[in-house]
Amino acid sequence: MAHHPIDDLNPTDNEHFQDVLAQASVSRRHLIRGGVGLAALGTVPFLAACGGGDAAPSPAPTEAALGFNAVAKSLLDEVKLPAGYTYSVVHATGDRLVSSVPAYSNTGAELDAWEQRVGDHHDGMDLFYVDASGRYSRTATARAVLAVNHESSADSHFWHTKGQTSGGVNGKKFSQFNGWDLLPRPELEVLKEINHHGVSIAEVRKGGDGKWIYTVDAPLNRRVNGQTVMRIAGPAAHLSDIKAFMATAYDPSGATSRGTLNNCGHGKTPWGTYLACEENWAAYFFMPAGSVDVDAKTKASRQRYGVIRAPFAGTGNAGSQGWSSVSTTDNRFTRFNVSAPGATAADDFRQEPNTFGYIVEIDPLNPNTQPAKRVAMGRFAHEAAVCGIPVVGQPLAFYMGCDSQNEYVYKFVSTALWSEADIGGGMVAGDKYLNEGKLYVAKFKADGTGEWIELNFANPLISGYANYSFDNQADVLVNARLAADAVGATKMDRPEWGAVNPKNGEVYFTMTNNSSRTVAGTDAANPRAYLDNDGKGRSGNPNGHIIRLKETGAVNATATGFRWDIFLFGAEEDAGAGINLSGLSAKNDFSSPDGLWFSPSTGICWIQTDDGNYTDATNCMLLAAIPGSVGDGASVTVNNSLGGNTASQQTFIGAALGDAKLRRFLVGPKGCEVTGITETADGKTLFVNIQHPGENTPAIANAADFTFESQWPSNAGYGPGSRPRSATIAISRTDGGVIGL
Ligand code: FEO
Ligand code: CA
Ligand code: CA
Repeated sequence: MAHHPIDDLNPTDNEHFQDVLAQASVSRRHLIRGGVGLAALGTVPFLAACGGGDAAPSPAPTEAALGFNAVAKSLLDEVKLPAGYTYSVVHATGDRLVSSVPAYSNTGAELDAWEQRVGDHHDGMDLFYVDASGRYSRTATARAVLAVNHESSADSHFWHTKGQTSGGVNGKKFSQFNGWDLLPRPELEVLKEINHHGVSIAEVRKGGDGKWIYTVDAPLNRRVNGQTVMRIAGPAAHLSDIKAFMATAYDPSGATSRGTLNNCGHGKTPWGTYLACEENWAAYFFMPAGSVDVDAKTKASRQRYGVIRAPFAGTGNAGSQGWSSVSTTDNRFTRFNVSAPGATAADDFRQEPNTFGYIVEIDPLNPNTQPAKRVAMGRFAHEAAVCGIPVVGQPLAFYMGCDSQNEYVYKFVSTALWSEADIGGGMVAGDKYLNEGKLYVAKFKADGTGEWIELNFANPLISGYANYSFDNQADVLVNARLAADAVGATKMDRPEWGAVNPKNGEVYFTMTNNSSRTVAGTDAANPRAYLDNDGKGRSGNPNGHIIRLKETGAVNATATGFRWDIFLFGAEEDAGAGINLSGLSAKNDFSSPDGLWFSPSTGICWIQTDDGNYTDATNCMLLAAIPGSVGDGASVTVNNSLGGNTASQQTFIGAALGDAKLRRFLVGPKGCEVTGITETADGKTLFVNIQHPGENTPAIANAADFTFESQWPSNAGYGPGSRPRSATIAISRTDGGVIGL
């Protein structure tokens, strides 16, 4: 389940009911024009409902069949795979990247060596082949590196011998006690926690026994962590304004910042660099009791991003891990205290939160290059960044979600036109494509179309926004959530990963769940509000959905319009038909889709879950789908009922996949989420991350008494000790075939 704050921080009434009604009337006109009466709304084909005419349906992708038997739901503490498949662990939390530090004990006894160890909470990842000259290769070579995000320190009690020492009570998860009177935390614990964050880069290879392993001491092994110095990068015309937002006592010029945090999903650029996305970073910051925000704008920005959460009377906000509480003047720790004791922003760390919330570009093949924070791509809770199909001579588009309840979907379009000469171009190519461009936010309309609205200071809706007074375009980029509010973007059910179908360029986004969606608050793109009444009793949109869109311009990247439908609705197999709209069965029912990725070799759409709502019946999972295309389904009416309110909501759903085209492939161990996925170029090895197994382990007074919810992967024969560890696994077929088909 979510292990970071995903609270609704969006106070706007974007997409309120009146908008939906107004848009619905457009839809009805289209329906009538298409010769379909309103009475037939429940079953009309999608193209008719969209008015037809504007675009031909996409050709169906080449049909392929899933070649495995569905895995049953499981509550066991193991990785379940279909018959004929096997896995091994590539690396797990704490594994050393260099032999100069001891092998991992898995007892919490390590000192501060986490900048030389694989981090925790494995998340987004990608594989990069290296050619003989050390440059990135799109095709397979004998040498490769695996870059892995390490999202969170929510389970950092496992890396201290007796759990976290905080508030005077051993063994507690500090995050469970946010709002306590702030007692100092030990420096070593905090240093370990900061340094485990970020990205690990490790050379990987297939061993003599056919199992994929990482190589200790390999030249390209590297850790980017919560202290790594990074360059602030952005549009040339606005860079000095951007740097003014970044000035701190660490770097008064605002040219650099320290560290990347909460790297969740990821992206891979066409030129061969890695994009680590900074997701829910805001909660690490702290304001002592009695301190105040610098000014109204700072306060508004912090509130919109969740930097200041509901203060607890008399105590201030401890921050989710209490990092600023270390008794020291060392600004590696004091920077998380964002009160303003200095004369100017360059004298303290009031602006430190402005240095997080970005797409961070890292060149995994050049350990000496400095990562860059790509401010042009906006600042929010970046889940992931997926590039549209690159077309030579056209701009590149990167699709991005902001993962919190009622947040938005964004697109960045490069000014530079794609040239294959830039493949292997590293950070120089990154500067070319990711600094100059346009940032858009999505508005999904009730008639099945949508609009990309540019976030530009020249837009009077932004420059004249009543709730936040933007100074300039730099302000728009740094406070992109507020700019998106101003233009009326559609509030979504927690946008998680995006993925692009390599066959047709259509863009998929998981909407993982949203406990705050109400019947009156539904719209066509977020159409369900209901109660799961046979298990955990969660309400809103507890099981989530996957939306997809097809750009409608002549050039996909620069299109400002799209058509959309809902590819799949998550649901329990025995939920009513009004909830289980995709007709899921025991072989493919799922809840809370999160990770999403298309295999370039098979075209399979892989769906991963991070769920806490169906976990009475199953651990989190990975499913394989063979999708059709936008518009292959129908218009449907959802009859919502929740909390005594009932109303119907029209939407568009993709063609049913059935058991033949959607099957459960993997179920993870207890208390994990399944996230992060990539494969070898031949499609014969699939890498998958198992994050936070055992996350529901009760935090108690002495770690010696931990009662582990999970003991994976040591119970599967990997590594010492019995504490659960996040890990990357490599999955293969025992007959050596391609995965999934
Ligand atoms: Fe870190 Fe959006 O899950
Ligand atoms: Ca249930
Ligand atoms: Ca995620």
